Amino acid sequence: MKPNLSINFLGIKLKNPILSASGTFGYGYELADLIPLKKLGAIVTKTITLEPRCGNDQPRIAEVASGMLNTIGLQNIGVKAFVKEPLEQLKKVGVPVIVSVAGTSVKEYVETIKILSVQDAISAVELNLSCPNLKKKIVCHDLPLVKDVIRSVKKVSRVPIIAKLSPLVTDIAELALCSQNAGADGITLANTYPAMSIDVKTFKYKLSTVKGGMSGPCIKPMAVCCVYDAYQKINIPIIGCGGIQTGEDALEFMLVGARVISIGSASLVSPKRLVEIIYEMENILKEKNIKDVKEVVGMLNTVKTVC
Ligand SMILES: Cc1cc2nc3c(=O)[nH]c(=O)nc-3n(C[C@H](O)[C@H](O)[C@H](O)COP(=O)(O)O)c2cc1C
Repeated sequence: MKPNLSINFLGIKLKNPILSASGTFGYGYELADLIPLKKLGAIVTKTITLEPRCGNDQPRIAEVASGMLNTIGLQNIGVKAFVKEPLEQLKKVGVPVIVSVAGTSVKEYVETIKILSVQDAISAVELNLSCPNLKKKIVCHDLPLVKDVIRSVKKVSRVPIIAKLSPLVTDIAELALCSQNAGADGITLANTYPAMSIDVKTFKYKLSTVKGGMSGPCIKPMAVCCVYDAYQKINIPIIGCGGIQTGEDALEFMLVGARVISIGSASLVSPKRLVEIIYEMENILKEKNIKDVKEVVGMLNTVKTVC
């Protein structure tokens, strides 16, 4: 018998736990000719800001062993243009839409979410808290700001708020708990890892901004560890993210506590991977005689670790 892959996430009914990860899937609808979007659990859009942004200079992407670096710089058309065109197109796709939002200040996050809040096509907002604030620190490294952003957007949002955290902090579980206490309804773990690479043939940095974010298989064990640690401290659902390439990878995250998962770099290799991962996951559950994917959430993470 086919295992049941449907899962409730923050009150949203998902066909399965497979989501696109922000920034690696455009606004979502553009990929309709390449993959059957209807099969996905949900689409997470690329990050939207209050004003349009042209992003960083090229080169913005570099390959590294078992992964990639990027420094896109949140290129996007701005929230007003987003609700006019991409959101209208997304409505036709018929899967839940999670809009990723970033800002350099509390005011920017709040203003953007106020504009999104009147749209009924949006199921949830994911706060990208890994972007630089006005002091050029990433938001996640400024704990009072993290709390302030979450508390403030909760006041104006009519949909659940998911905090997407940077893994580069001393204690990811503390940061997740602090986000939960500030009112976050869910947590995404995690964003990319700060990293850099140099081309020794040309003696040049591979990215225009020198440093960027690392993603892909090389970050998976670290991302799984973030989910494991956070799951022990929080009781809101987690989106697991980082290096997932296969159904096995996806289940690894779920076994330590992710309720759903999002896939980034793998869809840059082939957007079809997202759908293939759904089938791979289904086959593993079938082999293991597990009837419902919900059974595996946190299955291996039941004992509190003492360090
Ligand atoms: C090219 C590229 C662009 C990205 N843009 C965003 C973004 O706009 N907002 C965001 O929250 N994360 C962004 N990310 C991070 C991904 O959503 C994801 O958290 C990260 O890549 C780890 O997952 P992966 O290893 O499956 O790629 C981007 C990643 C890549 C590779």
